[in-house]
Amino acid sequence: MRVLPGGVLGGYYAPQELAFIVREARGPRLVDFSGREYVDYILGSGPLVLGHAHPAVVAAVEEQLRKGTTYFQLSEPTLALAEEICRAVPCAEQVRFCSTGTEATFFALRLCRAYRKKDKILKFEGGFHGTHDYSLMSVGPRAPKAFPAPTPDSAGIPHAIQDEVLIAPFNDLSETEAMIEAHHQNLAAVIMEPFQRLIPPAEGFLEGVRAVTRRHDVPLVFDEIVTGFRFAYGGAQEYYGVVPDVVALGKVVGGGFPLSAVGGRRDIMRHLAPDLDGTPEFVAQAGTLNGNPIAAAAGLATLGELKKPGAYARLFDTGRRVKDGLAAAATRAGIPAQVAGEAPVFEIYFTDRPITDYRATLAADAGRHAAFTRALIERGVVKAAQKFYVSLAHGEREVQHTIETFAAALHAAAEATL
Ligand SMILES: Cc1ncc(COP(=O)(O)O)c(C=O)c1O
Repeated sequence: MRVLPGGVLGGYYAPQELAFIVREARGPRLVDFSGREYVDYILGSGPLVLGHAHPAVVAAVEEQLRKGTTYFQLSEPTLALAEEICRAVPCAEQVRFCSTGTEATFFALRLCRAYRKKDKILKFEGGFHGTHDYSLMSVGPRAPKAFPAPTPDSAGIPHAIQDEVLIAPFNDLSETEAMIEAHHQNLAAVIMEPFQRLIPPAEGFLEGVRAVTRRHDVPLVFDEIVTGFRFAYGGAQEYYGVVPDVVALGKVVGGGFPLSAVGGRRDIMRHLAPDLDGTPEFVAQAGTLNGNPIAAAAGLATLGELKKPGAYARLFDTGRRVKDGLAAAATRAGIPAQVAGEAPVFEIYFTDRPITDYRATLAADAGRHAAFTRALIERGVVKAAQKFYVSLAHGEREVQHTIETFAAALHAAAEATL
């Protein structure tokens, strides 16, 4: 608390009396400074789809460490990762590396503005694309405004940015289409999480957004920082079968190290090529650690494991068992709840209303949710504030322990919030 504002890093905070300092982590488990063990569903906020300290990742990193840690030039692992992303991800004809997901969506949007020679961005209410100024618009408005007006989620964002961002309702195709039809002449891009936070796309929604953006040549950007290499080897665009023009990747692709990427159509990506420097077409993008060889080696090792036969079937099976176990525990306890999401990423909402868009989440009992999260920590299960991530390292023992813990934690949460 003395040296860090609020005593935290910013993205995650447990209730103060339950906060702990991590000593180490292996597989699906964390150990805190006092030696207490937790089953981990935070998983570094998603990158660790293989679990902590996976031997293949550790070996790849150790090997690369001996060859140097960063070059600010092309290296073998970086080039191999670029090739692998272009093979795997349907829309990625080329990629450019960055270091964080926030940078990837920020540069994706700059790239689209350069391609379209327009400024405005359309994003969806409740959609999160990192913490830059364009992203932090109507991610979590407490009192949502009428569409398409944005609400900034942070202090310190220049007022002018609000004029450049339009907000649309996720899973409402007719309203979204109408907005794009009305504004397409000024739109640089439509950016979306194809699986928004915990909300799967309604049938036909992604296809509809794809069709209207294509009709007006407005680049469609999928933020696949959560879904990339997690929902399928080709990400949500493979899983849901809708291919955007540009993709932002992060988390899994860096194997637990700081690495992200923008990928996309060659005619859009060409704006990043240095032969355009000095022309009005050129998009400036660089970073000291971009394409870092250790991160690339970790990413490649992770993808190598994910390519093994049955990896996704196993990930989905584990996720489904924990997710269904949570839903069943709520039903048994007679607690009105929705377990939203897909097997590899899900969350419980204490409401009887189906979670189909951001506004539906506002109806959920946040106090009960906080009490549930807290009851889990007390019983040795940690999750992020707003989701469970599962990994290939979660085995039978963790699944059973978690499902048993759900019943007790739901009971405790209900008692605490009667
Ligand atoms: C969908 C999505 N986009 C962007 C980001 C930002 O990524 P980073 O935290 O690496 O900046 C996140 C992070 O959780 C995310 O979930």
